[in-house]
Amino acid sequence: MTVPLAEYKRGASLPSSNPFQRLAALIADIEPLMDPIIMSIGEPQHALPDFTASVLADNIADFRRYPAMNGTPEFRSAVGSWLDKRFHLDGLLDTENGIAPLNGSREGLSFGPIFARDYLGKTDETPVVVMPNPFYQTYAAGAHIADAQTVLMDAIPEHDFLPNLDSLSSETLDRTIAFYVASPSNPEGSVATIDYMQRLIGLARKHNFIIFADECYSEIYRDVPPPGMLEAAKMMAPSAGEVFDKIVVLNSLSKRSNLAGLRCGFAAGDPVFIKNWVRFRGLAAPQIPLPIQAVATRAYSDEGHVIENRRLYNEKYALAEKLLSPLVGKVTPDAGFFLWLNVKKWGDSVSVTKTLYRDTGVKVIPGSYLATNHADGTNPGHDFIRVGLCPPLETTEEALTRLATWLGGKQ
Ligand SMILES: Cc1ncc(COP(=O)(O)O)c(C=O)c1O
Repeated sequence: MTVPLAEYKRGASLPSSNPFQRLAALIADIEPLMDPIIMSIGEPQHALPDFTASVLADNIADFRRYPAMNGTPEFRSAVGSWLDKRFHLDGLLDTENGIAPLNGSREGLSFGPIFARDYLGKTDETPVVVMPNPFYQTYAAGAHIADAQTVLMDAIPEHDFLPNLDSLSSETLDRTIAFYVASPSNPEGSVATIDYMQRLIGLARKHNFIIFADECYSEIYRDVPPPGMLEAAKMMAPSAGEVFDKIVVLNSLSKRSNLAGLRCGFAAGDPVFIKNWVRFRGLAAPQIPLPIQAVATRAYSDEGHVIENRRLYNEKYALAEKLLSPLVGKVTPDAGFFLWLNVKKWGDSVSVTKTLYRDTGVKVIPGSYLATNHADGTNPGHDFIRVGLCPPLETTEEALTRLATWLGGKQ
């Protein structure tokens, strides 16, 4: 039996300000007792790939030119080859129509549902966009732009921090235009299994909606590469219809290659949807500068810097496990670069964030700021804080040591 989930009216899931502005307001009057260490942001701080400057310099003259909306053939080919190898796609991805460059995955995540609404031709006055809760806040903006209601699916430990697919009714799924799913998820670092993804793909095809699979943390994993939505779809083909039908994967160089400021990502998957979306983008959005695409082409052809990047994060996770697991149990997720710590024993997410900052200078983000309150006031991030392992090893060690001492002292 499916339990009806609450639907939220247009705008109700849209935060009034972003979590970082809320955090700044929360701690504005606090004078920390130790030097501040910022562990709240998810901005990679490891080195840029060493070829970045030279590739930009070699292509600098192309800043003069307007680029094609669907990217250079070299960009699409590099992304296509990378996806093919990484997700075992057997050459099935259409690199001409099934890949489009974006100004970071965020751009595709925000404008995806509005195009999906037109494309699918659903006539409901109140279409639905489904998303996890907590969620990357751009999903709420995407639903808002598409003038849709949202269904928030709590990402809780009981369901491996992934939306429980069994809790959606057929009626809701029929009205759904877009389903956001993040694997690996932010903030929890959970990885969906192939079976989970195939069930979601089955629902998308049955109920005619687009899956926006946010895979921007796909390369920041511990030991085992997370599977991807395209991979899951390929394994279902050909018996389940067109191989990438209803699937749009979003990914970028921001986390994989520490190039968040380059603003370069892509959408890949359903060639009919993406071809039409690119046409729409041609009216609505900027192209990606050619020198930026040249850096991306090179970056997707190189795994050395990505392996090193993972090693650096994993070093910090080993430290976190050593310092924190005696106090809170296992802390290392399968992927991502965050700790999602249950601090219930010490208070709620907001009060812990405040006192931790006051006593130790360690700035984290309250889990509740990354999620939306339900109508009854509950919030699935209420018991959690998010700690970003982005700073260099030494700074991270200092922050985690202070955190462990603080938690230990308050037991
Ligand atoms: C879950 C998630 N999705 C998407 C993005 C957007 O990344 P970008 O636009 O840099 O590719 C981020 C950035 O922090 C994120 O955390």
